[in-house]
Amino acid sequence: MGYIKIDHAPVKTTDIGPSRDEDSHTDPHSVAGRTIVITGGSSGIGAEIAADLVSAGANAVIADLAEPQHAVPDAAYHRVDITKDTDLLTLVEDTVKRFGAIDALVNCAASYKALGSKKSLDELTTTEWDDVLRVNVRGTWQAIKAVFPVMKERGGHIVNISSTTARSGNPGFPHYIASKAAVEGLTRAAARELGTHGITVNAVALGLVDDEATNALNDRAYVEQAIGRRAIKRTLYPRDVAAVVRFLCSDASGFISGQVVIVDGGGIFT
Ligand SMILES: NC(=O)c1ccc[n+]([C@@H]2O[C@H](COP(=O)([O-])OP(=O)(O)OC[C@H]3O[C@@H](n4cnc5c(N)ncnc54)[C@H](O)[C@@H]3O)[C@@H](O)[C@H]2O)c1
Repeated sequence: MGYIKIDHAPVKTTDIGPSRDEDSHTDPHSVAGRTIVITGGSSGIGAEIAADLVSAGANAVIADLAEPQHAVPDAAYHRVDITKDTDLLTLVEDTVKRFGAIDALVNCAASYKALGSKKSLDELTTTEWDDVLRVNVRGTWQAIKAVFPVMKERGGHIVNISSTTARSGNPGFPHYIASKAAVEGLTRAAARELGTHGITVNAVALGLVDDEATNALNDRAYVEQAIGRRAIKRTLYPRDVAAVVRFLCSDASGFISGQVVIVDGGGIFT
């Protein structure tokens, strides 16, 4: 009796995930020693993500227009406007010089608190529309493009922060909501293109987080209504987001790509 010959696909040494050679002895959930850039890490949710990654042993590099509001001990800080290629180039060069690589990028920077107030689509100006799309969409793409030449050397993880409003379509932020829907589309496009280089690209879509930005933009009754719609009826804290981002920056998530993980206590189901 003959036997069936099975042709295995060649395994590249750049494969990411627990099988990556140099990491075979480490916990795939660990981000210890990994260098992770967090745009928008100077305040709010980004600062919590940076602090969480530092506590897990990562080299966290905050890239933000603004100085860190709450000091994250042991995190590096670079003043970066994500819409400026020159800023991003310097960030990447300095980070590689200091840490030798970029293993993950968390795109958290966005015009959110800067929206100032709710505006209907007939009140918005084209300048306001363009400003939000420029930062939230173009800036996210520019940051991905900037780290790609370095990250493709050994694979890595990219996590884009989105919003459940891209699905629920709440009134008052049409430009912001359109921008987050675009970020999710960009996530899928980048996952397809960068996957061949061993890079995963995912998005994390958040419900209303109880933070400074949310409380500046929404009244308390609105926030309480959002909590009431959740399967798990409690406040969404930045630390809930940080835990999921850390997983997506680790090799334990190495076979998840192009996905949008919704973190909103079961407020919406898709
Ligand atoms: N807070 C929420 O309820 C909520 C809900 C869904 C999604 N999100 C998303 O979570 C992320 C963080 O939100 P947040 O509440 O911490 O908002 P935030 O407005 O407090 O923080 C945004 C950060 O991005 C930085 N930033 C803005 N423009 C930049 C630029 N051009 N270059 C570099 N940095 C820039 C700001 O300085 C700030 O530190 C955002 O992507 C936001 O859209 C927030």
